[in-house]
Amino acid sequence: MANYLHRTPIAGSAAPEERLTPTLGWPHLLALGVGAIVGTGILTLIGVGADRAGPAVLLSFGIAGLICACAALAYAELASTMPQAGSAYTYSYAVLGEVFAWVVGWSLILEYSLVVSTVAVGWSGYFAGFMTGIGLPLPAAIAQGPELGGIVNLPAVLIIAVVAGLLLVGTRESARLNTVLVIIKIATLMLFVGVALPAFDPANLEPFMPFGFGKSVSADGVERGVMAAAAIIFFAFYGFDAISTAAEETINPERNLAIGIVGSMVACTVIYVVVALAAVGALPFTAFARSPEPLALILRELDREAVAGIVAAAAVVALPTVLLAFLYGQSRIFLVMARDGFLPRGLARLSRRGVPARITIVTAALVAVIAGILPIDEIAALANAGTLLAFAAVGLCLLILRRRMPDLPRGFRTPAVWIVGPGAIAGCLYLFANLPAKTQGYFLVWNLIGLALYLLYGARRAAAARG
Ligand code: ALA
Repeated sequence: MANYLHRTPIAGSAAPEERLTPTLGWPHLLALGVGAIVGTGILTLIGVGADRAGPAVLLSFGIAGLICACAALAYAELASTMPQAGSAYTYSYAVLGEVFAWVVGWSLILEYSLVVSTVAVGWSGYFAGFMTGIGLPLPAAIAQGPELGGIVNLPAVLIIAVVAGLLLVGTRESARLNTVLVIIKIATLMLFVGVALPAFDPANLEPFMPFGFGKSVSADGVERGVMAAAAIIFFAFYGFDAISTAAEETINPERNLAIGIVGSMVACTVIYVVVALAAVGALPFTAFARSPEPLALILRELDREAVAGIVAAAAVVALPTVLLAFLYGQSRIFLVMARDGFLPRGLARLSRRGVPARITIVTAALVAVIAGILPIDEIAALANAGTLLAFAAVGLCLLILRRRMPDLPRGFRTPAVWIVGPGAIAGCLYLFANLPAKTQGYFLVWNLIGLALYLLYGARRAAAARG
């Protein structure tokens, strides 16, 4: 019998042969978190943010960061209470009930898939620039999707294939490589700050807020304002949630998950504020707002060609950490949804190496097709929409669980929970309201399709899986 409000036990319900083996400690998780967070957001979307808010993009970073900090604390408590692989989907299933879990799972699919596609396309842009720099330009037909006049974005497809291959080799090996790449990424951003910050000119911050605070439509039809920028810049901050999908593979998850989630979020916020300050202070924002590689452009404008080359090359080498984390997270969420009967159960089977190989391959194929043909900007906004819904749901789960089971053992307890929880929910809804109207429309359609699927198939399959 279908039961739309069925709730799974807090302790989880995975059969032992389907459970993943714990191999990850907190340094791995911290690296996984920073690896997932620092990416296209700070490297590319900082330009889009400046285009939408002017120098006040600094405020947009602050607002999006604050909302994400609330969400990160909520995630830390729930992940340390329910260390299972499904992240917000799992929490919603245990706290809110089946139909809500489906809606959240459906939103997470949007988040994880579209982040992988977005970052792969962003990577391809840097890669194409890098190849041009060394005198081997790629033919436009295979370097861009159809919307920019190409046929297929082949580098984006290939990088997804490479990252999926790494994941098939095994989690531990991938996590080690990830750590090295994360160090390269942070060092590169520090290099940027070291060169751009001395060129800081307060005149570049005037006028500070040329497009106002709330979302409003400019003459060119683009929705601008500090909040419109915050709704896009939000993309730069998430990724800490991907750590929660590694819960089943974490040693001592009650403690290590909280360190990984909160630690990576705090570290990235500090890095972003410094990078953003260096960027908007170095040049008038109009000079880099529309660049596909704003940080490299700023360095070039400062006559630091060689450093610009290093930053571009490092982006090519290190951006795949974001792909690694999100592709990993996506395959884990599919795995848990398959275990619950929402997806074919055969997909959840682990390979000899203990990796959910089938799901990893199916996921990679799906996101590679999207990356090969679809435009980057709208994909990023839609990824944000899915993430915002998941974050708001996690905030809600946090508060409900505190009320319903106040004495449940929790590895980590969110401080000031009645401020942080509502802060996460209200903040995410406010950011959602500031997304482009078109994105909100697409998101509604995506959810209507999801709900129809749930009512026609999902509910029955989940009931059958429960037996
Ligand atoms: N936060 C990740 C990025 O900026 C998704 O690429």
